[in-house]
Amino acid sequence: MDIFAHRGVSANYPENTIVAFQAASELPIAGIELDVHLTADKEVVVIHDETIDRTSNGSGYIKDFTLQQLRTFDFGSWYSLDYSGEVIPTLGEVLELFAGTNHRINIELKTDVFAYEGIEALVLKEVAAQQMTERVIISSFNHESLQTVSQIAPYIESAALFAEVLVDFTTYISLIPSKAMHVSLPTAYRKSIKLALAEGATVRVYTVNEQQDARYLQQLGIQAIFTDDPEKMLVALS
Ligand code: G3P
Ligand code: CA
Repeated sequence: MDIFAHRGVSANYPENTIVAFQAASELPIAGIELDVHLTADKEVVVIHDETIDRTSNGSGYIKDFTLQQLRTFDFGSWYSLDYSGEVIPTLGEVLELFAGTNHRINIELKTDVFAYEGIEALVLKEVAAQQMTERVIISSFNHESLQTVSQIAPYIESAALFAEVLVDFTTYISLIPSKAMHVSLPTAYRKSIKLALAEGATVRVYTVNEQQDARYLQQLGIQAIFTDDPEKMLVALS
């Protein structure tokens, strides 16, 4: 079963920052997961929330700042003073960090609160510029965004994110269409996931931080987990 570092190695570093991704790039894991939003000047930046309030020393919506304005805030010291001075990364900067590795990159489009018109094409342009088409998985809770991705670049792997249980995941994702489903940990314990796996679906599970869950999911036949602590999961699955 593959391991993806969720927001980088977010158990030990400030989430979605270069230090968190650098740590992940040095581990023998399958890949990383990151979240993207769009700035006022249409730059794709890596951050989980719609606002910078929780993970920086500033306040306000990403969509209302230019990249240059966002760069003035500190995205490390909320986590630990050891990381003060970390800046918000652009998607391009994170992709560049992985240019020399074989890690897969799961880009989650955070378009479920604000649609960020045009973000899908901008993300795909960055991915193509870095020649990472084969290594990228685009996911979103906004399945209309995935339809846009599929229309622009049908060859890119996309994955529908689910927080809820569906009775028939396989049929649903074929309508988007997406290749994979990324489901929450409680959902992974439901019978509809066993059914999806029996039907040959690609299922990845978020966010798995307990070793006993990881071992259960491996036995179930889940393809990958997203974890904040990839080193702990490497131990659990060895
Ligand atoms: O992509 C899996 C997981 O990251 C989705 O939830 O809230 O951590 O972005 P969230
Ligand atoms: Ca995410």
